[in-house]
Amino acid sequence: MEKDFLWGAALSNVQAEGGYLEDGKGLNVYDTLVVTPEKGIAPMFCDTAVATDHYHHYKEDIDLMAEMGFKAYRFSVVWSRIHPMGDDEKPNEKGLAYYEDMVDYLLEKGIEPVVSLVHFDMPDHLLREYNGFLNKKVIDFYAQHVESVVERLKGKVKYWITYNEINLAPYQSDLVAGAYRPENMSQNEMFAQLTINTEIAHARAVEVIKRVDPQAKVGGMIGHAPFYPLTCKSEDILAADFKNKMHNYLPYDIMTSGTLPPYFINFMQKRNIHIDLSDTEKQVILESSRKLDYLAFSYYRSHVQSSFDDIKDPIALEDAILFDQRGLKNPNYKANEWGWQIDSEGLRYSLIDFYHRYQKPLFIVENGIGIDEKMVDGKIYDDERISYYQQHITSLKAAVEHDGVHLMGYLAWSPIDFLSSHKEIRKRYGFVYVNRDFDDLLDLKRYPKKSFYWYQKVIQTNGEDLENNIDY
Ligand code: BG6
Repeated sequence: MEKDFLWGAALSNVQAEGGYLEDGKGLNVYDTLVVTPEKGIAPMFCDTAVATDHYHHYKEDIDLMAEMGFKAYRFSVVWSRIHPMGDDEKPNEKGLAYYEDMVDYLLEKGIEPVVSLVHFDMPDHLLREYNGFLNKKVIDFYAQHVESVVERLKGKVKYWITYNEINLAPYQSDLVAGAYRPENMSQNEMFAQLTINTEIAHARAVEVIKRVDPQAKVGGMIGHAPFYPLTCKSEDILAADFKNKMHNYLPYDIMTSGTLPPYFINFMQKRNIHIDLSDTEKQVILESSRKLDYLAFSYYRSHVQSSFDDIKDPIALEDAILFDQRGLKNPNYKANEWGWQIDSEGLRYSLIDFYHRYQKPLFIVENGIGIDEKMVDGKIYDDERISYYQQHITSLKAAVEHDGVHLMGYLAWSPIDFLSSHKEIRKRYGFVYVNRDFDDLLDLKRYPKKSFYWYQKVIQTNGEDLENNIDY
């Protein structure tokens, strides 16, 4: 791997910070939304008031990242800490100061900050009063938020990510885009308009970042999971192709070309969907595509897609594929306790696919496994996590060293335990265990897991030594 390869990990602050309404923070969608459990999982939700108390432990947590040897660390600036209501005229000084301190501390430790500007943290008021990104005014508020943050951190933050998992906005619209589907809007219309509005938001963020800090690098980000055809029947191949375009490629296609791809225009025409997109907005999207530096994505698993034999109408068939909830399983892969199938070669496949399709530097900004862990005598033997990372790092190395992919860095998910996107502490991802239970905060003490020392060695050897021979 190149010497300047960005090894590290990433965190979503809204899932870790707590510090609920401290220092002027407002409620955000992650705080207020009632979550539905993951399929087949009994709910054990935590409230977000304390989470894993990263708000008060951030220096200690960064010290642990430095001990692991991180070159880079991705975190998110919680929108409702900067603009508590979202439509506030001025940013909250204490919020800005908090993240500036965090950035300064990272730089002091020699860790490159990679900052996400929206990650499940839209101010709740923007959902209730404006219906989130379905309302164009919210795009203006977002651009203002971005400007406040970039103005404050310019010259210190080199890498920005405009929007976490932008492609999930139409599927989890409340959490990802702060929006509910209005009664008079079809699912397809919502899909199309929210795709466009979030792309405008992304483009506006690119414009702000490059204007305020021309030296900074900016990337768009998707939550990626490739869809494989269930069988080699051409119907299934077509179904997977349609799904991959609409689910994975669409935002990247718009961000990189600056125009709407023909398959998306066709999708709208066939359904008589007329989106609200002005010439000025088209221009903003086009100009942002020329300024985009890299493409970032998260990768946890792959999926399987098939056609539906009983649906004959081609539009109804596509709609069924687009919103398919069957969760088909791939017979070749094992899954974690949450049914997420582990497919490390899917990461190599995705890297090759994206690099050849877009020819832009790529950045893996999330990859990891959620495990229900118990601490025994202060130790957590997470060999399952080590094995997951061994396989995925082997796969990305092949993509770089054999397939010639330009990969900027690898950020594991995650440095410390936090609440999952479904507000569960049970589903732990960290290299560091945080001592709390779902209904008892205990002492919130930090304990390095076995994987902590393993990843430290991986970084020290620039990805050469992946052996699990840690004396823990
Ligand atoms: C990504 C998100 O979707 O996946 C993270 O960006 C999230 O915020 C991660 O935590 C893992 O998903 P989950 O549901 O297990 O937390």
